[in-house]
Amino acid sequence: MSAANFPIPENIVAVLTDPAAYGDHRIFDAYRWLRANQPLGIANPRGFNPFWVVTRHTDIQVVSQNNQLFRSSDRPIALMSSKAEARMEAATGGKGLLRSLVQMDLPDHPKFRALTQKWFTPGNLRSIEGNVRAIAKSYADRLAASGGHCDFVSDIALGFPLRVVMSILGVDADDEPKMLRLTQEFFGTKDPDNARKGQNDGVAALSDVVSEFGEFFFSVVTNRRVNPSDDLASVIANAQFDGEPISDLDALSYFVTIATAGHDTTSSSSAGGMWALCEHPEQFAKLKANPALIPGFVDEAIRWSTPVKHFMRTAAADTELGGRPISRGDWLMLCYASANRDEAVFQDSEAFRIDRSPNRHLAFGYGAHLCLGQYLAKLEMRILFEELLQRISSVELDGAGAMTVSWFVNGPKRLPIRYQLH
Ligand code: HEM
Repeated sequence: MSAANFPIPENIVAVLTDPAAYGDHRIFDAYRWLRANQPLGIANPRGFNPFWVVTRHTDIQVVSQNNQLFRSSDRPIALMSSKAEARMEAATGGKGLLRSLVQMDLPDHPKFRALTQKWFTPGNLRSIEGNVRAIAKSYADRLAASGGHCDFVSDIALGFPLRVVMSILGVDADDEPKMLRLTQEFFGTKDPDNARKGQNDGVAALSDVVSEFGEFFFSVVTNRRVNPSDDLASVIANAQFDGEPISDLDALSYFVTIATAGHDTTSSSSAGGMWALCEHPEQFAKLKANPALIPGFVDEAIRWSTPVKHFMRTAAADTELGGRPISRGDWLMLCYASANRDEAVFQDSEAFRIDRSPNRHLAFGYGAHLCLGQYLAKLEMRILFEELLQRISSVELDGAGAMTVSWFVNGPKRLPIRYQLH
């Protein structure tokens, strides 16, 4: 990779590598500039290894579809400073802290994905719909009980998907605060409120969080091996590959992946959707008047918030992409939030429209690693908003909201709202 060719200007690179910029308009301004002027360019920031920044919907689809050429296991799958990348490499012998699905390539990836793919299909998820609705109703009751105002993030958006995912992983409600803290520490190494306390070194903090998760899930795995049921926890704990039982590391990695991927993202999209409704009262009125629009609203809320801002890929061979020469070993940042505002794909891409159709957003990724939990996330959000919208007749902001500080997975961390109850 020669950073002299296709360079991205320093002021744009500074935004891409500032975790706080992902919480406001700066990242969207930078993406807009990149799509128009350098849709596939090289960022070469001080303290980082250089990487390609892929901002067009079409290029992200090409990379994601071609997962033998653009791999997930060779280098970190989220942006890291060069120091952190080297320390992680030294600490884990290049293997990473976990053997998670998102970091696997052929031949392991399809084998491990097939293990739970059926469980996450819409047909199978029908069996948990009653449970999801009961949890959503309890949060709608909470909204009604809090007398016309609440912090939507801490009172509703964080707890609801956490309860759903923990119930499918067999975690008791008493242990949820611990799971929430660990997930926030996992994604929040750069956030002053969420970073692990007492550990200033990001790599060491991440390693401690993963060990604590591991210790916790070990007891769930042991339990499901002795007392299997038909839940997802039992499917993972009792998996067999080529006649051999799943290793403890693989089982724990699977649990941690689902625990972390499964609720923070859904919380962020739910809170992002509520924030958008507060700022677009005409869209709220339309939704209230016609609840059949809720599934379309859910997709638009996910496009609008795009909680996973990027994943990285590594080129396995020299190739060409969008007219640029890519060399073996090059690192590429797939900017999903940019793809989701791409003017070439979305009409009026900066507008929040609950009846947008088609809505071909890439918030769940694309290709072989397409989000395994996408139907679950959409089911949860649809049911949550069906329940909430029955209770309220109007909603608005009740003070300033705030976003988490992260260039990887981010979303609202505070959203004070005021609403009228029916
Ligand atoms: C993969 C986003 C909800 C589990 C992914 C990927 C994205 C994503 C972008 C692609 C990773 C890649 O290409 O490397 C989201 C968003 C969600 C959400 C925006 C909510 C709105 C969930 C839920 C679960 C889940 C609810 C499970 C309970 C997974 C897993 C993978 C994944 C296991 C890895 C799939 C693979 O590598 O084959 N997700 N996700 N996600 N997601 Fe989600």
